[in-house]
Amino acid sequence: MINRRKFIRNTALTATSISLLKSNAIASLVGEKGLKDFFKGDFLIGAAIGDGIFKENDKEYLYLIAREFNVVTPENVMKWEPVHPTENEWKFEAGDRLVDFAQKYAMKIQGHVLVWHSQVPKEIFMDENGKQISKAGLTKRMENHIQTLVGRYKGKIQSWDVVNESITPEDGYRKSKWLEIMGPEFMERAFYLAHEVDPDCKLIYNDYDMDDPKRRDFVVELVNKYKKKGVPIHGIGMQGHYNIDSPVISKIEASIEAFASTGLPVHFTELDMDVLPYNWGRTAEISTNIEYKKTLNPYVDGLPKEINDKLTKRYEDIFKLFLKHRDKIDRITFWGVSDDHSWKNNFPMRGRTNYPLLFDRQHKPKDAYFAVTGLKK
Ligand code: GLA
Repeated sequence: MINRRKFIRNTALTATSISLLKSNAIASLVGEKGLKDFFKGDFLIGAAIGDGIFKENDKEYLYLIAREFNVVTPENVMKWEPVHPTENEWKFEAGDRLVDFAQKYAMKIQGHVLVWHSQVPKEIFMDENGKQISKAGLTKRMENHIQTLVGRYKGKIQSWDVVNESITPEDGYRKSKWLEIMGPEFMERAFYLAHEVDPDCKLIYNDYDMDDPKRRDFVVELVNKYKKKGVPIHGIGMQGHYNIDSPVISKIEASIEAFASTGLPVHFTELDMDVLPYNWGRTAEISTNIEYKKTLNPYVDGLPKEINDKLTKRYEDIFKLFLKHRDKIDRITFWGVSDDHSWKNNFPMRGRTNYPLLFDRQHKPKDAYFAVTGLKK
């Protein structure tokens, strides 16, 4: 149990007390205590949310989100492909829904994501003849994209993930179309553009496996270079798609310290904890797709106590680390809210039953929730 004075509460957040609250209107209930309150003054607490929750309009679930979190990330709807599928077509409805929701309940918004090699239409890298587009042509498309998207939500979105997953331990700069066509300066160009449109917005570089020393060192060097040059970058995002047994805490800690040495705050942007066995190494590489195997999906009927205890301890240890470094960390965002909605049920193998988050499939707080908040069950 995390032992901090502020966590000692004599009221317990039980499943019964949650269900008693559900019938009330959301707005009058967001004052009830949630994760965001337990870590007030330490860091923001966020979740990525999908558009499905607005379509389902499950009031209880929406209430849960508004009570627990003070910042939300659009899981998909502001990525290039969904929001800007063809050159002159923009689809803002879903993004607007999220912004309205967040504003209504005084939550901040983490925009996600302006420039990434994935979930981007491949046509943007081609000219009208189907040939690879010129550097000037792609730069223009990037300008138009960032100006329009950041411009639309100017003053409403407080922080953007500007560039995602563009450094690899093997190659330094990831071999993407962005790199091939624009050269490494595509990254700084994106930061400058976003800053020109909304100078008050905090701009973040985000990547996975940031505990990898090679990726970490490359990012640190790059950020230091950017800071010297005056490139507007304001935070480093460690995604935090972790496993129950890796990486070890000391590796995560080394990266927090290394990133903080640049003078920028660290954001944990996509935290979750995969509990299932795996045979593909540790990866968050989005293109990985493994064929279904029953042996790799053993907890279809529920999580054994032993694994649940491990998960609880893992979350407890990781939040101890976050608290130890709260002077360096601005935000902890989970990639999802409850186990039923997690991408980890389908990545990198479809049809898994995974348990990576703090709320279960019935949307009740799990043991890990009680461990990190210090609440009594
Ligand atoms: C990466 C991206 C996220 C999301 C997750 C998995 O981490 O940054 O937008 O796609 O993969 O869903």
